[in-house]
Amino acid sequence: MNRSILLVGAIAAIAVAVFLLFPRAQGVSSVDAAIKASWTTADREWLARLIQDETQKACSHYRNAPPKAVADAILARERATIVYPADGNVLGDWKKGQVLAQSGYGGRFTDIPPRAENGGNCYACHQLDAAELSFGTLGPSLLAYGKDRKFAAADAKAVYERIYNPQATIACANMPRLGASKFLTVEQIKDLVAFVMSPESPVNQ
Ligand code: HEC
Repeated sequence: MNRSILLVGAIAAIAVAVFLLFPRAQGVSSVDAAIKASWTTADREWLARLIQDETQKACSHYRNAPPKAVADAILARERATIVYPADGNVLGDWKKGQVLAQSGYGGRFTDIPPRAENGGNCYACHQLDAAELSFGTLGPSLLAYGKDRKFAAADAKAVYERIYNPQATIACANMPRLGASKFLTVEQIKDLVAFVMSPESPVNQ
């Protein structure tokens, strides 16, 4: 094969690549620009959140279905972010957890500094207490979650991990990383675990 054929081939390959990639790249960058423009009143500390971390990049790239090696890397990296309570006790106060589960407060552009503590917003995606009529269904129902698991300590720990960083259990999980993102504190997460897992909680009545 002579050189000019190779050159023509290479140019054609580049042209095809540009043709295929450019519209998508342009679409992504205009979406990024629109989101950035809408964050002008946001707390400056939030700006870092406009940049995807390694896990988010991988999940976007593989459309939430990463190959096993990538999924394993995500699970290991995210697990390393989990901070456990110093005394190892993951069960806090279920009554406080009940209030937190109902609260969707936090991260509001209009409330800087915030007026109240951030909430867990669990009902946006889950059913928990049967008495609560309004709940989302993006996540599975958690009704009787602790009771169904015989209130086992290992399951309580798993719930703590799930709330702290769901990507440590499911690579590209659809639940937010409420502890790893510093949206909720260790104490708040303990209270939420108690709401899901303790026998006295209305979730398990
Ligand atoms: C934006 C939606 C969303 C919010 C908010 C959310 N979750 Fe989830 N959660 C999910 C989804 C979806 C799953 C299923 C697995 C996945 O894709 O992450 C899940 C899974 C779970 C599981 C594991 C269920 C199982 O199958 O064993 C628990 C426990 C849980 N969530 C608790 C909570 C608690 C407590 C809160 C509030 C602090 C909360 N979630 C907030 C979407 C959400």
